[in-house]
Amino acid sequence: MKLIKRNDIITVAIDSPAAAGAGTQAKLIAKHFNLQQLDTGRIYRVIGKLKIKNPKKFNHSLVKKKINVLKIKDLIDKSLLSDAVATSASIIAKDKMIRKIVHNFQLHCAFNPPKKFSGSVLDGRDITSVVMKNAMFKFFITANIKTRALRRYKELKMINQTLTYKEVLKSIKKRDKSDYNRKISPLRKTRDSILINTTNLTKRSCFLKIKKIMDRKLKA
Ligand code: C5P
Repeated sequence: MKLIKRNDIITVAIDSPAAAGAGTQAKLIAKHFNLQQLDTGRIYRVIGKLKIKNPKKFNHSLVKKKINVLKIKDLIDKSLLSDAVATSASIIAKDKMIRKIVHNFQLHCAFNPPKKFSGSVLDGRDITSVVMKNAMFKFFITANIKTRALRRYKELKMINQTLTYKEVLKSIKKRDKSDYNRKISPLRKTRDSILINTTNLTKRSCFLKIKKIMDRKLKA
């Protein structure tokens, strides 16, 4: 499908390591500024789950078929939140062809959101560096590893996942290592991204910080 780009839209790109709070901030930004939101990690999770469910049949054409019919609303699925799916996602995310398939889906969401939206906000690992290099706003959201593990531990507990804090910490460390060190589209902070450390910030105070930065530029 040819990529149509809407002019004059607000574009927000966010990258972050796992469980740093980027998804929460993306949701708040989307709501406040009327933007289409895409948590790109969920797309990799859909594919990670596809691999768990079809270990023998899993290949690029199966992935293509799945992504061709994928709708943003399909990404709201609690089964995607498990640690096993997250780990599987970080493994399939190293595959060049899979990244290419996901890339096209992301471009449409980023640059041609439905007319009712004033723009888009995407978060992931390679959004500021690859997918939305020219976004109007670029943020790198992070927090220290223990804080991130504790937040993820609490989230997993809420969906009845029986992992200990130590296991969650180990899993996040492993995923960080893979996401920062992989050859294709590794996670990194681009020079033009604004660093936000959420370790000692509440959700609200973090959002107000981001809002202030965005308002300043939008009102100028
Ligand atoms: O953000 P989330 O933790 O849901 O992402 C799951 C995994 O998907 C990440 O650990 C990463 O390996 C992969 N991912 C990626 N590029 C993105 C978003 C997620 O490689 N833009």
